[in-house]
Amino acid sequence: MADLEGLKVEKNYYLDKPFGVEGNFHVKGAANLDWGMKKRLANIFNPKSGNTVMFAFDHGYFMGSVSGLERLDILLPKLIDHVDVLMATRGALRTCVKPDFRKGIALRASSGSSMLNDDLSHEILAVDIEDAIRMDVDCIAVQTFIGADGQLESIDNLSKAVNLGSRYSIPVLGVVAVGKNMERTDQYFKLATRIIAELGANIVKTYYCDKFEEVAAACPVPIVVAGGKKLPEREALEMAYHSIQGGARGLDMGRNIFQSYHPAVMAGAIGKIVHKKFTDKEAWEYYSDKIK
Ligand code: 5RP
Repeated sequence: MADLEGLKVEKNYYLDKPFGVEGNFHVKGAANLDWGMKKRLANIFNPKSGNTVMFAFDHGYFMGSVSGLERLDILLPKLIDHVDVLMATRGALRTCVKPDFRKGIALRASSGSSMLNDDLSHEILAVDIEDAIRMDVDCIAVQTFIGADGQLESIDNLSKAVNLGSRYSIPVLGVVAVGKNMERTDQYFKLATRIIAELGANIVKTYYCDKFEEVAAACPVPIVVAGGKKLPEREALEMAYHSIQGGARGLDMGRNIFQSYHPAVMAGAIGKIVHKKFTDKEAWEYYSDKIK
């Protein structure tokens, strides 16, 4: 253990300084990766804006058919023009996404619990890397329960995913899980995002919080912000705007898109913030105008 006795230095996130190891590639922390990794990351993060709109509909892996996701075959065709990446289980991808889909794919690779359990934190790495290769996915997503009962298993899952991903040039998306009793503070998210990045994840998904800009600055790979429970559209757009302003490189939203009365317009409005520098107010005007 480092000796912390007498440590007086205050934390400094150098918020006025951009990340210093960009090289000639547009994805944070990826300058030293190989061509295959970069190719897949470029399928996720738009080379012009550097950002991404991910649509998460992997909820079925532990929640079954939640409201809004009952019929993926009907929902997805309405949405795919408005997002950059689909984040889903292999079952949903193989059954409901046409193989001529040409955008990014984030494959949910961990599972092991269901809503019927009190403690969701015990998971396994459920997808073989060969299957991820067969599906030609752009990253594999692993839920990571830092501070929870299943922390060791999820760090094991994440580490195995990083080892396999490195072998075959498939990036890993580490997802910060927030259990019922886990705090949603900047201190917690700084801890969890940094641990996940240091363990080798190439992208981290976490939640927006106060001092989010410090969370993003201290994480050496891009952060995509989770939507979380359904908010009124205007509030969800505000959260998206503040996330991007705070240094997120995208949104990875589920319920705030598919539980909206206008999922495609909502995804489009998020895209305006993420790629076109719209403010939340401008995005809300866009949304309101489109649903008239
Ligand atoms: C679970 C996930 C899910 O993809 C995510 O929760 C879905 O998005 P949302 O919370 O926006 O409905 O990563 O941790």
